[in-house]
Amino acid sequence: MLREPARSIRLGMVGGGTDAFIGGVHRMAARLDGAYDLLAGALSSTAERSLASAEALGLSRGYGSYQAMLEGELDLPEGERIEAVSIVTPNHLHYPVARAALEAGMHVICDKPMTLTSKEADELVELAQARGLVLAVTYNYTGYPMVRQARAMVQAGELGAIRKVVVEYHQGWLATKAEAEGVKQATWRADPAKAGIAGAMGDIGSHAENLMSTVTGLEVEALSADTTRFVPGRALEDDASILVRFQGGARGVLLATQVAVGAENDLRIRVFGEKGSLTWHQEEPNRLVHHPLGEPMRIYTRGGPGLHVQAEDASRIPAGHPEGFLEAFANLYAEIASSIRAAQGEQVTPGDHPTGVEGARGMRFIEATVASAASDVKWTPLPVGASS
Ligand SMILES: NC(=O)c1ccc[n+]([C@@H]2O[C@H](COP(=O)([O-])OP(=O)(O)OC[C@H]3O[C@@H](n4cnc5c(N)ncnc54)[C@H](O)[C@@H]3O)[C@@H](O)[C@H]2O)c1
Repeated sequence: MLREPARSIRLGMVGGGTDAFIGGVHRMAARLDGAYDLLAGALSSTAERSLASAEALGLSRGYGSYQAMLEGELDLPEGERIEAVSIVTPNHLHYPVARAALEAGMHVICDKPMTLTSKEADELVELAQARGLVLAVTYNYTGYPMVRQARAMVQAGELGAIRKVVVEYHQGWLATKAEAEGVKQATWRADPAKAGIAGAMGDIGSHAENLMSTVTGLEVEALSADTTRFVPGRALEDDASILVRFQGGARGVLLATQVAVGAENDLRIRVFGEKGSLTWHQEEPNRLVHHPLGEPMRIYTRGGPGLHVQAEDASRIPAGHPEGFLEAFANLYAEIASSIRAAQGEQVTPGDHPTGVEGARGMRFIEATVASAASDVKWTPLPVGASS
């Protein structure tokens, strides 16, 4: 069970204006356990809209740009200025904002994908380490109690050696050319200058990759990717199918698509080991299905019996009252707060959350996907019409 913190961390936010999607989720997540005070923000791409959003949200200190926010905060006495910055802008701004915040001595909480390139991600990891600052990446699905249960079961050897991992993230909201219809979230996602080199893979495949790595602890050795753009005129792939080879011989399949009509946030993972298998589905996050070899199926429930402590600790309310996306997101914020306080010298155990290291690994996976998809080496044609 998560505990109320002794004091709140002073937080600033970049991106997440009143018209944005994930910024509002970050704000709710930061608030849930009282671990943060959101004091400052540069919330939009223009000074006027940034200030209007800050006022609408009741922030004490609204700024016209992230540079103005960092300068303005550094002018304040140390005990008043923000200690951490949440970055919830389109992808291309993650690196410059994170870099500037770390250089200003502030901890960073950045959404995914962490940067546009693995080189940028590595630089941020190095900078954070050199300054003793926390660099966290909000791969929020790792915050679900039943994902933590799955990871703990794999770590405890309850599935035996892992043979196969299948991870899928299907969405349908980009099945038509939403970027041409003024849908704000679609417009920048379809622009390589703002989204980066990948479309569906960067946007949701990044979550799938992180979930696969977090639950299994396996290191990807190589991959073979097939990607395509189904919607005519779209600049980046909207569908990706990837075969994965892990160190030690396990195999994986990662599917990410945003053109699956009817699919909402259909993220699921299946892990098959020598002694059993697990299935978890984001749209029913309070259950984890376990098939032990030669025994009847078991369903673990959040807050129910038989859970590892890592899953128990990530839950706030009794079994049967649903917890979901916001609570899982808030788990990361609570854990990141512990890491920040530990980095500040308090006698606190650092939290369990994805860091820049995982963010950089995610960027390498995206780069390998794009490189592989551009090569035809693995395709073996069949003779057309031979079987008819
Ligand atoms: N973890 C998750 O589940 C999750 C979900 C959605 C999005 N994301 C990530 O979060 C980020 C934002 O995505 P979104 O869907 O909220 O996008 P969005 O378009 O809804 O919001 C982006 C916000 O950034 C602001 N912005 C743009 N330029 C800015 C600048 N120079 N300075 C300050 N603010 C600026 C925009 O005005 C807007 O308020 C992306 O990196 C995306 O990949 C993560």
